Amino acid sequence: MTKFLTLLLFLVTTSQTQAALENTTCKKCHPTIFAEYQNSIHSKASIFKDAVHKAVWDKHPAKAKNNYKCAKCHTPSDHDLIAGKSKLTENEIQKTEPISCQACHTIESVEKHTKANKNKFTKKKKYFYSADQVKKGTKVVFKEESHFFGMFKNKVGSPYHDIDYTNENYYNGEMCMGCHSHKQNGKGFVICDLEVKQGDSKETCISCHMPKVQGTMANQVHTATHAFHGASIHNATPKELSKYIKLSLEQKANGFEVAIKNETTHTLFPQPLRLNQLKVSIEREGKIIPLKTESFIKIIGTKGKPAMPWLADTVLSNTLIKAHETRKISYDTNLQKGDAVIIEFGYYMVNPKAAKKLEITDKSVTEFIVLTKKRINI
Ligand code: HEC
Ligand code: HEC
Ligand code: HEC
Ligand code: HEC
Ligand code: HEC
Repeated sequence: MTKFLTLLLFLVTTSQTQAALENTTCKKCHPTIFAEYQNSIHSKASIFKDAVHKAVWDKHPAKAKNNYKCAKCHTPSDHDLIAGKSKLTENEIQKTEPISCQACHTIESVEKHTKANKNKFTKKKKYFYSADQVKKGTKVVFKEESHFFGMFKNKVGSPYHDIDYTNENYYNGEMCMGCHSHKQNGKGFVICDLEVKQGDSKETCISCHMPKVQGTMANQVHTATHAFHGASIHNATPKELSKYIKLSLEQKANGFEVAIKNETTHTLFPQPLRLNQLKVSIEREGKIIPLKTESFIKIIGTKGKPAMPWLADTVLSNTLIKAHETRKISYDTNLQKGDAVIIEFGYYMVNPKAAKKLEITDKSVTEFIVLTKKRINI
């Protein structure tokens, strides 16, 4: 009897967690995209999977009241938490799909606000937005068309859901901006702003961060490529992205100049914990001569001193590289024939100074990550 009850309990609890997980159904027909998503930061945006987010939350004043205000961007798929029906707990949604497939594919529009933008989701069931240049403007409702008295069946669309290809936000990247645009703290001070400027770039958030990679997008159709769903700067910096940062060197009368050209449509590394740096050294007669390291950083604080994001009310300094900007850094060392100049442009996930305050020691977070590197022979 107890065995039976245990089994029953097991079945009830497992079926409940299964039912609550939205991505499980998508996995059956979109296995490649589902697998990529497992490595993406969007599948790990909760405190239970992102040690950095947790470290900051642990120090945040709202934690004492367990008032997890971060949910609307970090864990929008924990619907009970969003609706105020439950508090933040370590459940399967938090651990595996805090920003689920549906959280992104049901964003109908993005409302603009000064504090932070807001996602407006469609209320229609099994109704997903997507982008396809050929199908643009159409809405595909799943139906099975019968011909010749049902002898041949022609399947149109997905056998599970409708697809709406009319939403412009999925073509221009606006659908990312409900979460990614900017954020103010309780004092109305902007702590993070991507400062997007499209300029005349043909690239969007989606074309750069979700580039087309090999493999079919669904089991039932055979497409050569699909949009990459593994976006993360945690695992490793995606190689395809480094091509948008161009490094060059020019010799001057006194020394030389290194130029960094930002071809992205946003400020580089605006997240307040990041530290973006340029490291330059000269290889001369078998020896390495390190030159000054240049930091690109926005320091926020209060009363003239750096402070945690929720306390900050002023910008103490800002040397971040803006969209489409070319930043030039001068070095007063004269180069000699036979020298090789090694230029490294990269970042720390967490500024070592902040890491100390937050008691973060994880190597993957505290080590310098090279985004792009160049060796120039003189
Ligand atoms: C529902 C909110 C939400 C939407 C919509 C969203 N993101 Fe994110 N994204 C986040 C959050 C939150 C993080 C940070 C998670 C973390 O580090 O814990 C993130 C992280 C990222 C990162 C990695 C940066 C980093 O610091 O690790 C990239 C790149 C990214 N998103 C790109 C996109 C793109 C491109 C889109 C649109 C196609 C998009 N995101 C849509 C919430 C969202
Ligand atoms: C308006 C949406 C939004 C809200 C609300 C929000 N975040 Fe974020 N958060 C993001 C996005 C988007 C990113 C990724 C940004 C990037 O990397 O540039 C991010 C990244 C972070 C990171 C860096 C994570 C990493 O792994 O490096 C931390 C830490 C963080 N958020 C903490 C918080 C905390 C704590 C709260 C709640 C008090 C919160 N955020 C609320 C959107 C939001
Ligand atoms: C029973 C199989 C099946 C399931 C389950 C399923 N899909 Fe699909 N989906 C498809 C097929 C097939 C297509 C391709 C339709 C076409 O090309 O006409 C598709 C297309 C899509 C597209 C649009 C692709 C495009 O052309 O841009 C999106 C977005 C999508 N699915 C998301 C999801 C999400 C999110 C889930 C889980 C909630 C899901 N699907 C579950 C079969 C499925
Ligand atoms: C961060 C937001 C985000 C998340 C999370 C997300 N998607 Fe997407 N997805 C997009 C966007 C934007 C596109 C349109 C890309 C394009 O231009 O083709 C897309 C495209 C697709 C496509 C069509 C691919 C193609 O090449 O046309 C399918 C299928 C799909 N998603 C399924 C899923 C499934 C399944 C999941 C969960 C495992 C998921 N998506 C999670 C934003 C997201
Ligand atoms: C031309 C290509 C390009 C476009 C367009 C682009 N990005 Fe980026 N993005 C990059 C590169 C390169 C980096 C730096 C490398 C990295 O962090 O992986 C980056 C970094 C990021 C980061 C990490 C920032 C941090 O502080 O950690 C986020 C988040 C992000 N992009 C989101 C977006 C969003 C949202 C859009 C659309 C408004 C967008 N990107 C448009 C190329 C692009």
